[in-house]
Amino acid sequence: MKSSIHTLSGFAKHRHWESTKVDPCTIVIFGAGGDLTRRKLIPALYSLACDKILPADFALLGVAREAWDDDAFRAVLRKSIEESDEGCTMNEEAWGWFASRCFYASGDFTTSEAYRAVGNHLNAIESRNPAREKNRLFYLAIPPSVFTPTLEHLSSSGLAPNIPSSSDRPWVRIVIEKPFGRSLQTAQELNRLVLDRYAEHQIYRIDHYLGKESVQNILVFRFANSIFEPLWNRSHISHVQITSSEADGVGTRGKYYEEAGVVRDMFQNHLLQLLALAAMEPPISFTADAVRDEKVKVFRSIRPLIKDGRPPRAVLAQYAAGKVGDEEVPGYRAEKDVAPQSATPTYAAMRIAIDNWRWDSVPFFLRSGKRLPRRTSEIAVQFRSPPLMLFGQRRVAEMAPSVLVMRVQPDEGISLRFQVKVPGTENELTPGMEIAPVDMDFSYAEVFGEKSPPAYQTLLLDCMIGDPTLFTRSDEVEMAWRVIDPLLEYWERKGQAELAFYPAGSDGPDQADQLLAKEQARWR
Ligand code: BG6
Repeated sequence: MKSSIHTLSGFAKHRHWESTKVDPCTIVIFGAGGDLTRRKLIPALYSLACDKILPADFALLGVAREAWDDDAFRAVLRKSIEESDEGCTMNEEAWGWFASRCFYASGDFTTSEAYRAVGNHLNAIESRNPAREKNRLFYLAIPPSVFTPTLEHLSSSGLAPNIPSSSDRPWVRIVIEKPFGRSLQTAQELNRLVLDRYAEHQIYRIDHYLGKESVQNILVFRFANSIFEPLWNRSHISHVQITSSEADGVGTRGKYYEEAGVVRDMFQNHLLQLLALAAMEPPISFTADAVRDEKVKVFRSIRPLIKDGRPPRAVLAQYAAGKVGDEEVPGYRAEKDVAPQSATPTYAAMRIAIDNWRWDSVPFFLRSGKRLPRRTSEIAVQFRSPPLMLFGQRRVAEMAPSVLVMRVQPDEGISLRFQVKVPGTENELTPGMEIAPVDMDFSYAEVFGEKSPPAYQTLLLDCMIGDPTLFTRSDEVEMAWRVIDPLLEYWERKGQAELAFYPAGSDGPDQADQLLAKEQARWR
């Protein structure tokens, strides 16, 4: 059964963006020749230009090693917009406006000469209109191994000074891509460096899941309605499943992925963020710090994944060759830039316990992997079964439980599964009455018509307007590492011995099913 929900009034475009006021600013992208810039950042900025949200005094300065000039850089940008799968269409007028504001500085950003070149370009750009405010946003779309020298140069060159208060003008902000460190210790070191040179309000640690509309909706759904929150606890919920699966393999990112693996790539950030939003207490207000405070409290309540030397309730696995859809695909170890005996996990499933008043004895099962049958991200909240089976002779355990599913992607929306009587089947006093699960479904696309804006569009706009709510604070990142670190250490000690395998295109390793079977549960 599908029942749609209709808005009473036609909704204006996403969150009244038309009236959003963006300060004049220059965005400097380090790593302008990279994949992230081409696939995500440029289409996002161009879409903001198409929506006329960027200010007249906007400029983009790309910095990379490639020996391009401004025109060559613009040609690369145009191509990335034309090839984008982020829903961009080429509009010559908007492109002309955007392209005339894009510039390029060639250089190796681990050397001080590059910063002199960036400084000269910035002066030239900013002096085009001497009356404008010289606000600067530096975006580090670069490998984590060069975060430290880049931040040191940015600071010592004077290009990105420390700005003590968030109300000071002109502003200077720095966006740091994930992964923020590769362990608790390295994240702490990076935080120390950053906070030694900058104020926290200047730092935007990005986790693009937080920019997804459906992820932002989790808090609205929970706290703008009063009907769900009374049920949102151990008395009514039996367990929660958080899934993020992908059909793609590692593609061209083998080098990065060998260093990261699925736990660092997906769990430390995206999955733990989804868990925090699903599990947190209501914040005192919808402000950046109030929301982040509550998320940090969730991380602090997570029971250590390894306790008293006992093995973790977790499964780590790697894809072997198989078939995804109709396509035969190689195993992970045969991918480009991957070691032939690699022990890097591409799939993980784990049971997380939150030791607090609300969630005591409610397991949260998290799983994520590459080369699974399809791309899906969702949070499924499974409710307890009724205490007694009144209808026929069926056992309670045979009845499908009520489940509330928040679909993050694709087909963003929310559905509620519950039981109904199948029409025409027998009734009172007869043993044969049939009960069947049905879904009540809300789909963003059906109700609001247009596609939600891509996450990077939302997040870049937030950086420009100075709203850090959807970015992670220093203590939040460290607490998330504190959760994950013991598992990574355990894994490094055990090496390949405990690595499971699953054929590409399958639902993952059998061991992941056993993780839930122990608690009479099954993956959806
Ligand atoms: C990135 C990971 O952060 O998220 C990738 O590095 C992963 O490995 C991607 O594919 C998934 O993002 P999305 O938005 O496609 O679910």
